[in-house]
Amino acid sequence: MIDAVDYDQRQHQTYQVGRELPAASRKLWADAFAARAPAARPLTCLDLGSGTGRFTPLLAEVFGGPVYGVEPFDRMREQAEAAPHTKAVRYLAGRAEAIPLPDETCDLALMFLSFHHVRDRPAAAGEIRRVFKPGGRLLIRSHFSDRMPEVHWHRWFPRARAVELKMFPTLAEVTDLFAAVGLQPLALDTLRERFTDSLAESSRRLRTRAISTFEHLDEAEIEEGFRRMDAEIAAGPEGPTYGDCDLLVLGRGEG
Ligand SMILES: C[S@@+](CC[C@H](N)C(=O)[O-])C[C@H]1O[C@@H](n2cnc3c(N)ncnc32)[C@H](O)[C@@H]1O
Repeated sequence: MIDAVDYDQRQHQTYQVGRELPAASRKLWADAFAARAPAARPLTCLDLGSGTGRFTPLLAEVFGGPVYGVEPFDRMREQAEAAPHTKAVRYLAGRAEAIPLPDETCDLALMFLSFHHVRDRPAAAGEIRRVFKPGGRLLIRSHFSDRMPEVHWHRWFPRARAVELKMFPTLAEVTDLFAAVGLQPLALDTLRERFTDSLAESSRRLRTRAISTFEHLDEAEIEEGFRRMDAEIAAGPEGPTYGDCDLLVLGRGEG
């Protein structure tokens, strides 16, 4: 497993700006979550590894019920608390291995790019199962190392792909873990997300380093990567950036 990232050290300062969700992405994800959630409304949701709360208020909007944003790092949670949200949203200190909620509380849990940060994954699987009501669904937005897509910015940072291959589990590692607690894979969707309108915008966002992969690269290779990226931007023409994103759906019973 790759070294853990301390989000309270640096990431919390830039995450909201560097990873801001464009309106089209909000809609893409809202629709994707709704398509795979249990049909009833309202739903009680858990945003597990909620960070600065990018998705937490959105879950309340889409599913109409209470949403718990559980996040281990205080400074990430402070950013979430300071951002607009309704009374339906509550942010709690906690982590996937020890979810601060009673048994059978949630209909839906989202782990959006947080699963690969969890250190004790069997404990997390047991905890998720514990807080699920019957019929609970888990949505994991992640990469899987055995089906890593092309990532548009990796070409300027040659070691980034190797870092991410080490960072993300395989699909079978994840499905085996959850099978052990009775949650089966129900679907695996791949969504094409438009990240930025231009490479220049992508460069500006990447420079915030609000992607934990940068924590595993050294200064010299980061600088060299941005130098090469900027040279390509200057040579133009440049278009929007896109990426393929996996959403794994787990639960009991029918898909
Ligand atoms: C890439 S950020 C994603 C945050 C948020 N889900 C989003 O998409 O904006 C990863 C988050 O996982 C959190 N995290 C790290 N270890 C965790 C754990 N053991 N349990 C739950 N979340 C964890 C980090 O603190 C961080 O906020």
